[in-house]
Parts: sequence; structure tokens; C-alpha cells
Amino acid sequence: MTKLPHFKLIIFFYFSLSYSFTQNFKFMSTKQADQCDGIECKTYDKFSFKSNYLDCSNDPGTTLFDELTFDLILPPRAFITSQELLMNVSTYYDVYSPPTKFALLINNNPTQFTISAETWNDQCESCVIKKTFILSPFGNTFINGTNSMKLTGYSNLVCVSEIEITIVYRILYPIITRIIPSLGPIEGGTNVSIISKLMYPEYRYLCCFDEECSPMLPAKEEVGTCLSPEGLKKGDSFISVRFRDFGIDEQYLVNKDIVFTYYNITLVNASIIENVGRYYLMVGCEGMVTTEGALCKITDKENSLNSTILKGKVQGGNVICIFPETFNIEEEEGKIYLITISINLIDYCKQQLEFVIHDDSPHESRSYLTVVVVVIFGVLLVGVVIGFLIFNKAKKKTEDGEYINPDEVVLEEIMGSGSYGDVYSALWRGQEIAVKLIPTKNMLQDSVLQFTKEVQLMKKLRHPCVLQFFGSGTDANFILIAMELMRRGSAHTLLMNKTLPINWERRLKMLKDAASGMFYLHSLTPPIIHLDLKSHNLLVDDNWKVKVSDFGLSMTSIEGLHSNSVCGTLAWTAPEMLKGKPVSTKADVYSYAIVMWEFLARADPYPDIPRFHLIEKVGEIGIRPDIPQNNHIAYCELMQRCWETRPEDRPDFSEILVCLDEFIKEETNKNLISETPSLYEEDEE
Ligand SMILES: *[C@@H]1O[C@H](CO)[C@@H](O)[C@H](O)[C@H]1NC(C)=O
Ligand SMILES: *[C@@H]1O[C@H](CO)[C@@H](O)[C@H](O)[C@H]1NC(C)=O
Ligand SMILES: *[C@@H]1O[C@H](CO)[C@@H](O)[C@H](O)[C@H]1NC(C)=O
Ligand SMILES: *[C@@H]1O[C@H](CO)[C@@H](O)[C@H](O)[C@H]1NC(C)=O
Ligand SMILES: *[C@@H]1O[C@H](CO)[C@@H](O)[C@H](O)[C@H]1NC(C)=O
Ligand SMILES: *[C@@H]1O[C@H](CO)[C@@H](O)[C@H](O)[C@H]1NC(C)=O
Repeated sequence: MTKLPHFKLIIFFYFSLSYSFTQNFKFMSTKQADQCDGIECKTYDKFSFKSNYLDCSNDPGTTLFDELTFDLILPPRAFITSQELLMNVSTYYDVYSPPTKFALLINNNPTQFTISAETWNDQCESCVIKKTFILSPFGNTFINGTNSMKLTGYSNLVCVSEIEITIVYRILYPIITRIIPSLGPIEGGTNVSIISKLMYPEYRYLCCFDEECSPMLPAKEEVGTCLSPEGLKKGDSFISVRFRDFGIDEQYLVNKDIVFTYYNITLVNASIIENVGRYYLMVGCEGMVTTEGALCKITDKENSLNSTILKGKVQGGNVICIFPETFNIEEEEGKIYLITISINLIDYCKQQLEFVIHDDSPHESRSYLTVVVVVIFGVLLVGVVIGFLIFNKAKKKTEDGEYINPDEVVLEEIMGSGSYGDVYSALWRGQEIAVKLIPTKNMLQDSVLQFTKEVQLMKKLRHPCVLQFFGSGTDANFILIAMELMRRGSAHTLLMNKTLPINWERRLKMLKDAASGMFYLHSLTPPIIHLDLKSHNLLVDDNWKVKVSDFGLSMTSIEGLHSNSVCGTLAWTAPEMLKGKPVSTKADVYSYAIVMWEFLARADPYPDIPRFHLIEKVGEIGIRPDIPQNNHIAYCELMQRCWETRPEDRPDFSEILVCLDEFIKEETNKNLISETPSLYEEDEE
């Protein structure tokens, strides 16, 4: 039988990142516990252990005490850092005796103790001393649960009259590593994910924004959610976490370097601007804080249920959002909308700005394309002299490999809108090419320069599976990028068109092209990391050859406004990137895994997850797209390896290529054997 009548906890601070508790208890011997009845036991207040030979005067040749057991109950996740035994020991002592020695069997492992003669001389006149013995934390430790102790192998020892055990244990503080988002409106109400190390589901935590604390919503391991309280002031608030343990006062740690920024944005005015056939909503704001992405939410004043979210970007204190292509300003003319914005891509400003749709410049540059075509025809027809001059000027510039004169480019038809701008088929020096027009109206001059510089760099790249760039040019209104024409458009369009049969072998070959293009980019010095790899950026030519496009662009400073990216690409973005950690070529391998999934499922990943939840779901919780029922086991294994959370666990493209070769070989054999050379066999629906 075991008795643990009382214990008290004393808090002990070790170093700043942890705290310790001392559990200090004494206990009674088994025999005494057996002897007393319930009521009597309660009257004990010494809680001391007394041996069978309490007076310490009996024959030393017998066992001093029976086995003692006691229960030690540590809080979850605690670990013992030190343990001490305090014992009143008595002995027969004279100068001729050997030193007093004894051993304790702690959970059946012996630990030796020696009491030197000096100690006896200094401390013990009556031959009874009270002495503390420190047990090595690396030696025999007491355990969480039932412990046993037994005295054994002693010399010169008469008795042990009292034992006190002091165990110091410790629980580590949580350390916040990151919060998402790191800013929110001054009114509060932002759901902030607290990502930390050493945060344990067994404990209850409080989040404190400066001094304002509220409970953290049930924390999963390493992720908790807190609602930001109303900000007392605009600007930075320090976030800390407190937690409560069993009966222990609140402990807390201030993570001084973790800051949540409150903003107080006032929406002032709004207007619609138009550029190269696309419409933008520009919202004038006061109190803007620097940030990247932004969203505009426009709600029909008449029908508050009808609201649309536009993606955009913060620029010069304003928010610029892009209307969908289907936006028809003539139809919308005069309609009243309520506008609000979000700059953390999650919660919206409480203020709503009333706005009447009005096309300020209906005919100014409505059909820029028409203007361009007319101008070009004009140029061609205007006369030999002018034409000759323009040709010469252009030639001079293209010779140094730097420049494509927009006047030399004859736009034909729009092919689609890719990241950053619309893509047209065009004629350039008798060659059919594709041209991307990127509006520069809202771009800084520096960005334009940087952008063209990067295109020049890309022009030097040559690989059959990498889209060839011919060059770029600029005009007052846009940057023009000339590149190879890929007639079938993007792999995404082809995959989404489910009526179009694409057999498995073909899909594997397309994926192999993409992988070899990526392998080439990664093998350059320095490697080009794509960062925006997705089926939309894999272009397909007449012969089903796939080429990687849009690489490197994501690095430029104009990212955001025109790209489908602000949120659209989150599904392809590697978790380390979502978490804002440094990225490597392995980030592209992750994106490639999602592309593999697209080729398998012929669908868009995560149809049911709102895009902004992806940061948490993919980045923190680690979910991945649902794998549809299929019989390509090895393929799925490769795909899963490619989307491993730890970049170093993902294969690189050289290995992916080897695997794909194998799959293609198998598939070809299978098709030969099955003698169903149907080109349009579908694998699954
Ligand atoms: C100790 O045991 C108790 C009860 O079994 C358990 O709740 C607790 O988590 C354990 N603590 C440690 C540190 O293992
Ligand atoms: C143990 O030693 C302490 C200090 O010397 C003394 O106060 C206490 O009464 C002793 N306990 C027993 C049971 O002898
Ligand atoms: C915050 O998150 C909790 C739990 O996920 C959810 O119930 C709540 O509605 C969210 N609040 C806001 C303002 O998004
Ligand atoms: C936010 O700004 C508005 C207008 O500038 C001001 O009236 C309001 O008091 C501010 N709110 C807070 C909490 O500072
Ligand atoms: C808002 O008003 C200011 C001053 O009248 C003007 O300069 C600015 O262009 C306007 N912004 C928008 C987005 O309409
Ligand atoms: C919302 O408004 C848009 C354009 O004003 C309209 O096309 C759409 O049908 C409306 N949707 C609903 C649900 O009312």
C-alpha cells in the first residue's frame, strides 16, 4: 500500500525559457500506513518515514526498513531535472571504524552512498546526521508512476529515521515561431494562428496581445488560434502566450520579437481605371501599412448577398484590384456598390465605401487592341520613307539582342490571359509568335526595367522543353514579351476539358517534358527556381510537346497585381514558402507534385477549401489534395514523395525523370500487349 499524504509545489525558475516545479514530499512507511486506521492517519502531520528501529539503537545487523513504494505523479510533458534525498542517518562511529556506506535500491537499481569520517566529525555529535544526497539526473531516476526504494548493503549504519525526497521537474515554455496573419484591423476580430514549438494540447493557453489576454482556441500540436482584441493603438502589439498548469499560477513568456500590427485604414474614395481592355478598381486609403496582397470586396447595395471578391495589390497607399474579365462596365453603369478592402487577405475593413460605377473614360482607350492594329497598318501603309526609318531603328536595336520594337509586331488574336497580362498570337518578321502584353500603367519605372532585364536573361535559355523567349519591348503603356507560340494553349485548359481524351501514356510524356524543362532550369548556375509551376504554365504545341513557361517572372516586383497568383497559386505553393521560409529548387518539386495530381485527377486541387485557408491547411496542418481512385500505384507514390513537407525528403527532377521513363516504358508495353491501340483510351473519370 502506498501513501502520499501531502505534497506541495514550489515554483522554481531555471532559465528564461522554462520553469520548474519542486515537488516536495515526505511519506510514511508501509508498516505504519498499515497500522493506522483512516482517522488516525489523517492526524499525522510530520509525514516522516520511520523505520522499524525507530530509536536507532537496535542491532544494526538487520534490514533497516522494508521496501517503500510511493506514487509520483508528474504533470504531462514534465521531465525530472534533479532529485535529492534528504535522510536522517545514524551510525556507530569511532575513528577506527570504516566509513559508513550503504546503498539504496531505487526501482531495483542500486545507488551507493558513502558518508566520510569528516562529515561525521563535523556534523554529528550524537551520531545522527541529516544529510542531503543528490542523485544524478543521468543515474537512477524516479519515474512518473509507482516508485520503490529499499535500503541494502550497508556498513556501520544503524538506521534511517527520516527521508525526504525533493524532485525538481520542468515543463518547457512554448516559443512562438510565427503568427499568421501578422496584421489586422484596429477593430480586432482577426483570427490569428499562433505557430509555436513546445505547445502542448494538454495545457490551456492564453494569448496576450500586449496585456489583453483571452483563451486560445483548442490548440492542435503547435498551432493555436486567437482572436485579436480591439487594438488600443495603431501599430505594433506584442504577442505572448501564457499557460496554466495544475493548480499553478499563470506563467507567461513574452515573445518580444513577435509583433502583430494593427492598422486603422480609412477608405477615402474609389475610381475605376482601365488599361489594355481590363478594368481596375482603385481604392484611395488613409492609414495604409505596407503589405503585398490585398483584396477588394464589392457588395451590391441593393442585394447585400451579392458580393464579389477581387484580388489586388497595395500600391502607394492605395489598393488596386482587378475586375474579372467578364466585367462589363456598360452593363454596370450607375449601379451602387459598397466597397471594403482587406490587406491581410483574410478579414475586411469594417468601413464600407459607397461607390457608383461610372466609366470615366469609355472611349479613350477602350479597345487598345484596335488602336494598336490600326496604328500598325497605318505605319505599314504610310510610306516607304517612314517605314524604312522605323525598320532601321528597330533593326539597330534588335541586333544587340535587347529589344523588340512593338511596331514590328502585328497582333492577331487573343489566346488567353496568363499571369501578369493577356497573351496574343502575333506576327513578327514573318514568324508566328505569341506576345504577352503587360500593362505598365501602375508599375514603377524600376519594375519595368527589372522586368525587361529578366526577360533578356531568359532569352538566353535554350531547351526543347522550356518556352523560348525572343525578347521584349516597351511602349508607353505596356511591356511586350515575345515568345514561342504554343498552339494548344496550356495543359490546364486541356486537362479541364474532360471531353478531350488524353491517354495515360500521353499524360506521362507531357509530364516528362515538364520535368525535363524543370531539370534544365534547376541545373543552370545559379539555378532558376520557377516558384509558379502549375499546369497553367505548361504550354502545349501541336505535337503535344510541353514547354515550361512563366519561369523567373514570379521573382519580379510586379508580382501580385496581374498574376492569377495572389491567391490562385496557393494550391501549388510549397509549405515552406507558405510559411515564409527560404525556398529552394525543392519548392518547384512540390508544385510539380500538384501538377502530377492535376494530370491524374483532371481537376483543380482543393475545390472545397477557401483559398485563404490553404495557408493554414497546407502549410501548417499538412493536408494534400485527395487522391482519386486509380491504379497507378508507383505514380502516386512518386507524387506523394514530391509533396513531402520537408523539402529534403522530396526527390529532385533527375530522379523524377528516371521514374517517369520507367512509367512510360511500362505503359507502352502494356498498350502493346493489350492490343488496344486506341489512342483515346481514358483511364478514369
Ligand atoms: C505522468 O502520469 C500521469 C498519469 O498517468 C499522466 O497524466 C502524465 O502525463 C504523466 N506525465 C509525464 C511527464 O509523463
Ligand atoms: C531529522 O533531522 C532533523 C534535523 O536534524 C530533525 O529536526 C528531525 O527531528 C529528525 N527527524 C527524525 C525522525 O529524527
Ligand atoms: C475564427 O476561427 C474560429 C475557429 O476556427 C471560427 O469559429 C470563427 O468563426 C473564426 N472567426 C472569424 C472572425 O473568422
Ligand atoms: C481610426 O481612424 C479613424 C479616422 O481616422 C478615427 O476616427 C478612429 O478613432 C481611429 N480608430 C482608432 C481605434 O484609433
Ligand atoms: C481620391 O481623391 C484624391 C484627392 O481628390 C485624388 O487625388 C485621388 O486620385 C483619388 N483617388 C481615387 C482612387 O479616386
Ligand atoms: C450578382 O451581380 C452580378 C453582376 O452585377 C450578376 O451577374 C449576378 O447574377 C448577381 N448574382 C446574384 C446571386 O444576384
